[in-house]
Amino acid sequence: MKLFVDTGDLEEVRRAAEWGILDGVTTNPTLIAKTGKGFRETVLKICELVPGGDISAEVVATDYDTMLKEALEISSWHPQIVVKVPLIEPGIRLVKELTQREIKTNVTLVFSVSQALLAAKAGATYISNFVGRVDDISDDGMRAVADTVRMVETYGYESEVLAASIRHPLHVVQALEAGSHVATMPLKILEMMFKHPLTDLGLERFLADWDKAGLSIFGTAPV
Ligand code: E4P
Repeated sequence: MKLFVDTGDLEEVRRAAEWGILDGVTTNPTLIAKTGKGFRETVLKICELVPGGDISAEVVATDYDTMLKEALEISSWHPQIVVKVPLIEPGIRLVKELTQREIKTNVTLVFSVSQALLAAKAGATYISNFVGRVDDISDDGMRAVADTVRMVETYGYESEVLAASIRHPLHVVQALEAGSHVATMPLKILEMMFKHPLTDLGLERFLADWDKAGLSIFGTAPV
């Protein structure tokens, strides 16, 4: 499963990229607005920080003609850019057009398998199924991820299912169980995935035993 970080913060992207396991970055208008910096400069810097990764940048118009203009502008900035498009009627028409032009797309704000079908049929590269926002209203957000994976696989659509709106590491595990192709999450969640109390305890004991024995990797062996 691909791991994306969901942020517009360059420092966060830099930190996640350092680990060498990051496959891409997703942004949205809220995350870009939070940076207080320009959209183009932020997205270009992210592309530089994650070479070869898929970097999603979202259109903000809601009428087809303006959405198309925005999509062509955004995708002209860098070959790694994936145009993020909301699941509305002109959005699906836009995805079909961009697919024909071989421009990658990420259909966002998807909450149901029926919506996901429309995105798959339009040729979306990624279908962003939001999990946490559904859990927030006492429903099971991961169900639509699992249903969408099954739909895509049963009918042979090329779209990859992207579990978005991830709130905690258990969502990542559930996304794996659902067969999701990608999960995007805030840096905080990626950092939490490293954590296990037995890892900390085990490492503490290894190092204490090593120190007690006076060993050194580079020095001479104790006599
Ligand atoms: C997806 O690409 C979205 O940017 C994101 O996952 C939304 O997450 P939120 O529900 O935590 O805002």
